[in-house]
Amino acid sequence: MKLRSQEWFDNPDHPDLTAIYVGHYLNFGLTLEELTSGKPIIGIAQTGSDLSPCNRHHIELAKRVRSGIEAAGGICMEFPVHPIQETGKRPTASLDRNLTYLSLVECLFGYPLDGVVLTIGCDKTTPALLMGAATVNIPAIALSVGPMLNGWHGKERAGTGSTIWTARKQLATGEIDFATFMEMATASVPSVGFCNTMGTASTMNSLAEAVGMQLPGSASIPAPYRERGQMAYATGRRIVEMVHEDLKPSDIMTRGAFENAIALNSAIGGSTNAPIHMNAVATQMGVDLSTDDWEQIGHEIPLLCNVQPSGDYLAEDFHRAGGVPAVLSELLDAKALPHPEAMTVSGRPIAALYQGAKIVDEDVIRSFDAPLKPASGFLNMKGNLFDSAILKTSVISPDFRQRYLSNPDDPNAFEARAIVFDGPEDYHARIEDPALKIDENCVLVMRGAGPLGHPGAAEVVNMQPPAALIKRGISELPTLGDGRQSGTSGSPSILNASPEAAAGGNLALLQTGDGLRIDLTKRRVDLLISEEEMSKRREALEAAGGYQMPASQTPWQEIQRGMVGQLNEGMVLKPAPKYQRIAQT
Ligand code: FES
Ligand code: MG
Repeated sequence: MKLRSQEWFDNPDHPDLTAIYVGHYLNFGLTLEELTSGKPIIGIAQTGSDLSPCNRHHIELAKRVRSGIEAAGGICMEFPVHPIQETGKRPTASLDRNLTYLSLVECLFGYPLDGVVLTIGCDKTTPALLMGAATVNIPAIALSVGPMLNGWHGKERAGTGSTIWTARKQLATGEIDFATFMEMATASVPSVGFCNTMGTASTMNSLAEAVGMQLPGSASIPAPYRERGQMAYATGRRIVEMVHEDLKPSDIMTRGAFENAIALNSAIGGSTNAPIHMNAVATQMGVDLSTDDWEQIGHEIPLLCNVQPSGDYLAEDFHRAGGVPAVLSELLDAKALPHPEAMTVSGRPIAALYQGAKIVDEDVIRSFDAPLKPASGFLNMKGNLFDSAILKTSVISPDFRQRYLSNPDDPNAFEARAIVFDGPEDYHARIEDPALKIDENCVLVMRGAGPLGHPGAAEVVNMQPPAALIKRGISELPTLGDGRQSGTSGSPSILNASPEAAAGGNLALLQTGDGLRIDLTKRRVDLLISEEEMSKRREALEAAGGYQMPASQTPWQEIQRGMVGQLNEGMVLKPAPKYQRIAQT
């Protein structure tokens, strides 16, 4: 089989070009023989750096990947990927997902690479790299950096993100001071690796395994464990074989594989960011996947994983209890994995790899017959304010259910008064304002936080109630918005509303004091005003020049705003999906 890299390095029809291509790759010690003897050239797409502490351990792991590549007869070319640190990038890391995707596509398409190892981990690095591999479609395998170890504050587990959401309520009521707050928050980040809760990172790394793009077990081994380095070595070996087998993302990330990922997402209590990112990967792969699929395929699947924010434990416990393999095995046994025949990077179908994997600790991973919660996937909400919004049912607390969803005359539904905020600054400025008269019969609404309104879409919908309400024991109110929320949040928010206010969505017409009806059975959120009043407000808004959003701060913000889609469709750059499998064109 002719290798793609031979177009660059071994092309006698174009001697001058070949000489130019080869020459500079010899100057760090590679030999002509190595570059022209048909050895696969394997890229390591390196996401680790000092700017990306979650993925920084990949710099170490890459050494083991390189050893694996060389042991299998390949040549390694490591290159940097534009960093995306979830907790470091302003205004939000998700602004950069599509930028990283674009730059990776150029690297994979434009350089002499036969295959690539995708070093995934921190939230958006995973979708960005899978999206790039999907578009270019050269053999690709993902390697998780692995989660952090368990965090501890005293005898309590301290989970990244989750601990902050709890501690900020205690800070708001004066129960703890700022120093204790900071101590608790930082205790939740105890080692290298990605967040140790089932936030967006653990979710996306688990889904990258379920969709077939990682070796079995790769998602959940903690970053500092020796198995992590061993997995890096195995991954390096395997990508070389994949090049010889010509096993490409299009053979693996099929519609069936995405359906498997949706099922796993419900079983692990995965992040509300997952539909956004997996829909984006699917779109770049040319696979049709929508938010409706997440409800249809995922809603009935029970919650098996007792991991924060839906449960009690953390990622290290999850790994020890059997990790993704145990959960997939449980789904397979229950015939709840829709496509057992789906192909994986191992070259074998998913059923053959995971059947028989055992749950080691049933406190952490429950069996399918004795789950933590039944039917715990997402609902795809619709109504007269938006076409699609996600609700994560696995985080609805008994207290919340009792307060809002237990009226015998109107089960699973409630009506409440909207309190509307335009962006996170507005929320912070006004949430404690007594004039708003916020009580338990209110829904906090955040708009101006979608891909256009807050470039990249902000994680701000999990708003906490005013301090006075928390002191009265009401620690959560229903929330709704066109932004996202952190995957580590336990709030049952209605999120990712599309189209957003800034894209002409009716959320822009909502006013504080309006009545809203939220009905989980009908999957609807409706603004309780007449059609006439709605039209009047629409006219007034248009006359005023539409929903106002802040100016872009950087060239990329402006470029992306000019061509980005909505959250329900994965927030992809609209021109991108027409470029498919470009390494084969
Ligand atoms: Fe990087 Fe959570 S901040 S994984
Ligand atoms: Mg996040």
